[in-house]
Amino acid sequence: MSASSRRPLIAGNWKLHNTVAESVELARAVLHRTPRDAAVDVLVAPVFTALYAVHEAIGDGSVRLAAQDCHFEDRGAFTGEVGPALLKDVGCTFVILGHSERRHVFGELDEAVRRKVAAVLSHGLTPIVCVGEKLEEREADRTEAVVLGQLDAALEGLDAESARGCVIAYEPVWAIGTGRTASPEDAEAVHRAIRARLGERFDGPTAESVRILYGGSVKPANAAALLAQPDIDGALVGGASLDAESFAEIVQAAIA
Ligand code: PGA
Repeated sequence: MSASSRRPLIAGNWKLHNTVAESVELARAVLHRTPRDAAVDVLVAPVFTALYAVHEAIGDGSVRLAAQDCHFEDRGAFTGEVGPALLKDVGCTFVILGHSERRHVFGELDEAVRRKVAAVLSHGLTPIVCVGEKLEEREADRTEAVVLGQLDAALEGLDAESARGCVIAYEPVWAIGTGRTASPEDAEAVHRAIRARLGERFDGPTAESVRILYGGSVKPANAAALLAQPDIDGALVGGASLDAESFAEIVQAAIA
């Protein structure tokens, strides 16, 4: 399988922004700007409270719906949590897991990420598994060790078929929301290492089929150079996804 057989994926992570009405308006604007038959997958991840209404607005068309996190259980005494079955019920097809804000602001550990990945896969949803090093880890030359350690932990216990059902997102923590981006070459080197590890853990066809997104201050101005790298298969976009026009330009960069 060649790199070009991986369909690019551009994901908008709206984080803790937007009321229901604002989310619906933004989702409609994204849908309006997303070319219908283009060779790209596009998704948006609104806050939990807006998921149902956004799905009503966009349906199951060219823009897909993602949640920003979930619990690994579907029901029970888990106050404050939302499980994968309920996300599927409101129209989600993807779930972002292990985002660095979950890990570093809320103290989420590798083991929780692993259980969430397994739970999401068991419902036929696609996990977007986020990995990434902190600045001090990069400066200590530990980028690959940290990123591959997070990857190994998240995919522990999966067979190759399940691994093929995952998307990986490499997001250097120091590049998220800071305006600093990894250079395309530095990002590509980490993506290549991730793909090589997938090949070791599973097999060559699995490594070649899994999409690896880059995230961290992706904007219209830097998207094309990042997406031109052979192992960068898309982008997980935070800040720039809150503006439909900027997001559309990043989607265009993935098609071009
Ligand atoms: P950013 O966020 O694009 O605002 O850096 C990316 C992310 O956190 O997914």
